[in-house]
Amino acid sequence: MTVTVRVPAKVNVQLAVGGARPDGFHDLANVFLAVGLYDEVTVTPADELSVTCSGPDADQVPLDGTNLAARAAVELGRRYGVDPHVHIHIAKDIPVAGGMAGGSADGAGALLACDTLWGTNASRAELLDICAELGSDVPFSLVGGAALGLGRGERLRVLEVGGTFHWVFAMAGRGLSTPAVFREFDRLNEGVRIPEPVASRELLDALAKGDAAALATAVSNDLQPAALSLFPELADTLAAGRSAGALAALVSGSGPTTAFLARDPESAAEVAEALAASGTCRTVRTAPGAAPGATVLGN
Ligand code: C5P
Repeated sequence: MTVTVRVPAKVNVQLAVGGARPDGFHDLANVFLAVGLYDEVTVTPADELSVTCSGPDADQVPLDGTNLAARAAVELGRRYGVDPHVHIHIAKDIPVAGGMAGGSADGAGALLACDTLWGTNASRAELLDICAELGSDVPFSLVGGAALGLGRGERLRVLEVGGTFHWVFAMAGRGLSTPAVFREFDRLNEGVRIPEPVASRELLDALAKGDAAALATAVSNDLQPAALSLFPELADTLAAGRSAGALAALVSGSGPTTAFLARDPESAAEVAEALAASGTCRTVRTAPGAAPGATVLGN
């Protein structure tokens, strides 16, 4: 038997970051929106745990026990007394180290796939608990749609989305490490009193109404200055998308993928074409949001 789970990427339409906590993490008000770019995680019974990966960025994906998909299988097996002897294959379409939760998606996908394969029938609450242990963004990858993440981003409140938003994503020529971007955030804010992060009412209303123009004026990412400081060329990508008619241009999460909100699918296609021609990025993709969370495709 084989189980395949499809898991979406995310963009953060708001990422409000508080000061560093004693445990090194930062409190966030993190408004996640799942978008229609997917990894597919397939698990098959095997003699031992192994991970393989295919796709354009496959060579950058670690295939050892540090892979979140492998860690998800091990943790679910530990809790239910199952040997995690599975082969995990990741068909990767989400950019690696791109700020779109690609690794988190694989963790959530493998967890749901193993739960299905082994018939462990873990409750949603237990799956979410394992996700939170794997990483701050992993619970959202399981849930999808749109959600406000509090704490380090793992405590989720599901949000209403009143329409489809049309996005363009520009993938950069290299990745950025999330811990490095948070460290740069701390360095840039040294000596600054950082207010407690709160979700923007205006932004939540725009999401609920499906109002792209209103969402465009409300999006924000407190990690953007840190990402730009480590990767200054991203400013050229943002400018290229803006001048092609994007309603909003921002760094996705910790970057370096840049995200552009378009008025409608036609405008998204125009922005994508202009970005591809600009020479300021590696590849360009369009994707609608919101998208569903981790979904079992078949077994
Ligand atoms: O939780 P996750 O493993 O995805 O986090 C990766 C890194 O990002 C953490 O080790 C930490 O440096 C940083 N981080 C943070 N505050 C958060 C989430 C992540 O400082 N809320």
